[in-house]
Amino acid sequence: MMKDRVLIIGATGYLGRRLVKTSLALGFPTYCLYRPEVASDAEKVQMLIEFKLQGAHLLKGSFEDHESLLSALKQVDVVISAVAGNHFRHAILEQLKLIKAIKEVGTIKRFFPSEFGMDVDRMEHAIDPGAYVFADKRVIRRAVEKENIPYTYVSANCCAGYFTASLVQVCNFMPPTDNVVIYGKGDKKCIWNDEDDMAMYTMMAVDDPRTLNKTLYIRPPGNIMTQMEVVKIWEKLIGKELKKTFLSQEEWLGTMDKVPRPVQIGVAHLYQIFFRGDLEFEIEGPHGVDSNDLYPEHKYVTVEEYLKRIWNDEDDMAMYTMMAVDDPRTLNKTLYIHPPGNIMTQMEVVKIWEKLIGKELKKIFLSQEEWLGTMDKVPRPVQIGVAHLYQIFFRGDLEFDIEGPHGVDSNDLYPEHKYVTVEEYLKRFA
Ligand SMILES: NC(=O)c1ccc[n+]([C@@H]2O[C@H](COP(=O)([O-])OP(=O)(O)OC[C@H]3O[C@@H](n4cnc5c(N)ncnc54)[C@H](OP(=O)(O)O)[C@@H]3O)[C@@H](O)[C@H]2O)c1
Repeated sequence: MMKDRVLIIGATGYLGRRLVKTSLALGFPTYCLYRPEVASDAEKVQMLIEFKLQGAHLLKGSFEDHESLLSALKQVDVVISAVAGNHFRHAILEQLKLIKAIKEVGTIKRFFPSEFGMDVDRMEHAIDPGAYVFADKRVIRRAVEKENIPYTYVSANCCAGYFTASLVQVCNFMPPTDNVVIYGKGDKKCIWNDEDDMAMYTMMAVDDPRTLNKTLYIRPPGNIMTQMEVVKIWEKLIGKELKKTFLSQEEWLGTMDKVPRPVQIGVAHLYQIFFRGDLEFEIEGPHGVDSNDLYPEHKYVTVEEYLKRIWNDEDDMAMYTMMAVDDPRTLNKTLYIHPPGNIMTQMEVVKIWEKLIGKELKKIFLSQEEWLGTMDKVPRPVQIGVAHLYQIFFRGDLEFDIEGPHGVDSNDLYPEHKYVTVEEYLKRFA
């Protein structure tokens, strides 16, 4: 059966680019609408070229040019809008022009308006100046429903890049290593989602009848946690307790008139989530569906895996080494770094990668003679690599039991250290 043709609007944006990537990966014929303004932005142009090389169709058009919208819509079945709706750029109401064009064409099987945040119909009580983001998205929902356009609203909750990466420190996108601000007691549940997962759940919903005319809530169960729980994960990774400044609701809202307007909007939104607990609700049927009920097989990125990307992996070697510095058990000993889950064959590692990319690789098996035969065809630095790989992968020189009393195993000494697994490492590239 032919897959639905998907048009992505806002394709070069923060979420849009991930939707394009995922749409292509899942094999949807993918169309990107790009505005003429993009021509003055070298990075966006490069991104579009990249999409084209990967198989996307590029369509020039804009909300200002009705004919261009009609022409694009006639070529596709599904429309996903990821136009800007943040504190700095806001094009949400521009989508009214898109809705008019979708109605006129009359062949669009599903429209995903630009949402990807909190459930806006639950945010009528939101405070200013953050309330308008929810209000404008509600206007779009009502217009879609009035025109009887088939839809899916994606309530994607909180982007890891904005929330998890900084432990929710305002205007920061890296986690702190000394001090952290905690909102209230840090005990309200938030939902911390990786942006690629948001794109994947959205794309899985594209042709899923269970999400038609529904709100899809992206709620990976392991990522529903409080700010304090996320901070604890980070503290465990870096092996250090952060100094915490607990802000009361009054102190937090009191910062509002000391910051510029875009930041005020952020202050208001964080108030909703971390003081009021506006993400703490049960999904109500029949119009709400939970991503985890529909797609339990999807292996989402956990908060811990996300933070581990920042606390990087060579750090495991560094961490074991530093833990050994003042450990008498390692004095005059060889410390072998042997995380048990990472002891595996090349074929096992290849299988993990194949599972991640959903594709079997063509394999060329080399004999020992063929491998060593390459030696005199490569320069000396590479010869050294050839020799080392021979030791490990042909002779199996890493296959031995540690012998006491002079050898000690990192996992016997520091079993509590949560090392980066091969799968977690490869996921960064998948
Ligand atoms: N849950 C969260 O934590 C979270 C975080 C961020 C965003 N979001 C939501 O996700 C959605 C997408 O946001 P984003 O941050 O990915 O957006 P973005 O990167 O700021 O912008 C996305 C695209 O919007 C298009 N755009 C901007 N101004 C426009 C205009 N005046 N007319 C038409 N198109 C315009 C541009 O497309 P081209 O230049 O390619 O034409 C741009 O690439 C929004 O609804 C936003 O509220 C949620």
